[in-house]
Amino acid sequence: MAIRIGDIAPDFTQESTEGTISFHQWLGNSWGILFSHPRDFTPVCTTELGEVSKLKPEFEKRNVKAIGLSVDPLSDHVKWVGDIAETQGCALNFPLLADADKKVSNLYDMIHPNASDTFTVRSVFVIDPNKKVRLIITYPASTGRNFVEILRTIDSLQLTDNYKVATPVNWKDGQDVIIVPSLKDEEEIKRLFPKGYKAVKPYLRITPQPNK
Ligand code: BEZ
Repeated sequence: MAIRIGDIAPDFTQESTEGTISFHQWLGNSWGILFSHPRDFTPVCTTELGEVSKLKPEFEKRNVKAIGLSVDPLSDHVKWVGDIAETQGCALNFPLLADADKKVSNLYDMIHPNASDTFTVRSVFVIDPNKKVRLIITYPASTGRNFVEILRTIDSLQLTDNYKVATPVNWKDGQDVIIVPSLKDEEEIKRLFPKGYKAVKPYLRITPQPNK
């Protein structure tokens, strides 16, 4: 069955470039981003893996561990990792699952047969410290992902977990946010949002980001 937001991310044990990984144990108390690549030695994937390696400090700031997946064997991954270091200005610094038996790809429904019977699409799963799936994005194989956008969504998830707010269109960390419509009590609103708010409509109340 397809995985949905709010589900517990399926656990698995699989080989990777950093040894055998038991997923839930490996995640520990961190957030996680699990993302798939159609196959090894492909140009778009090579750029993505270099980019996520460069962004490692940004993921660490947010307590997020990154883990990639490609359906080729570990022996290929090892050769490809050399190419990534050579061409992307940054060596791979997170595990890449060797999912040659497609165990994880099938578990996470990463193979979309009407696109390709054999290779994964570009799936992204953001998983929280309770192992719940919080975000799912699917790109076609020919479109490289925007990992800055994925960091932005993690900022939103982490903010909205801690405050009674939602983030508006194109929001970036530090910008104004929206008070959740379910919050009606004026005294509570004053207490939670001491910087005040602007009611554009009764259901659209804008306030400065509370943790800035
Ligand atoms: C790539 O990963 O580079 C790629 C994969 C499938 C189609 C086109 C490009």
